[in-house]
Amino acid sequence: MTTGAIIVAAGTGERLGADVPKALVRVAGRPMVAWSVRALDAVAGVDAIVIACPPGHERETAAAVGTRARIHRIVPGGTSRQRSVAAGLAALPDGVETILVHDAARPLITPELVGRLTSCLAHADAVVAAAPVADTLKHVDPDGFVDGGVDRSGLWGAQTPQVFRADVLRAVFAEADDAELDSATDCAGMVGRRGIRVLLVDPGGPNPKVTTPADLRLVEVLLGSGRIA
Ligand code: C5P
Repeated sequence: MTTGAIIVAAGTGERLGADVPKALVRVAGRPMVAWSVRALDAVAGVDAIVIACPPGHERETAAAVGTRARIHRIVPGGTSRQRSVAAGLAALPDGVETILVHDAARPLITPELVGRLTSCLAHADAVVAAAPVADTLKHVDPDGFVDGGVDRSGLWGAQTPQVFRADVLRAVFAEADDAELDSATDCAGMVGRRGIRVLLVDPGGPNPKVTTPADLRLVEVLLGSGRIA
């Protein structure tokens, strides 16, 4: 099965407070986006990798990930995550049968996880890394006081990578309007809204998204500890 991978890396990373875009911040000796490229480059079925980078940072992104045959294109991302996915979709080769979408902000992606998700496409059109919610959930009022509980049973947090049958994802994006591209926070939500069943698969290990400086320190430790050699 031929797979095209889109790495969305066009976020500014304001909450990280760095002086470069988040995907270019160095973590455990490499720019963050390079960890995802390295993992995807090690998966046999991945033929083409497209990176959506902050507009104007194409050359720095190319330098950050190095020369790899499977990097198909580096394109300017959009003003929302889903617009960056759309830019990546437009740049993928036509022939791919499977499309993988991954946040550069999750550098702990492994080839093993990608393999596990794509093998599930044999019996689902959409497969997403996700983990059951572990914390007790509260609903709060605007002043920060709890005004209700939320039953966490059956609630999972969606992550990336997310993999899709290419025709399914392309059809969903073809009919999405501007409002949806601005408001949706992941592809699984756009797919699920159209009645397509989305299978969740627990990575079984840490797969955090880097948002704050504390997340960066955590990921630094996990990567540096050799969890991904
Ligand atoms: O901002 P957040 O961490 O939720 O973004 C998730 C991913 O989407 C990140 O990898 C970020 O670089 C990417 N993104 C993007 N284009 C945007 C906003 C976010 O590619 N306009």
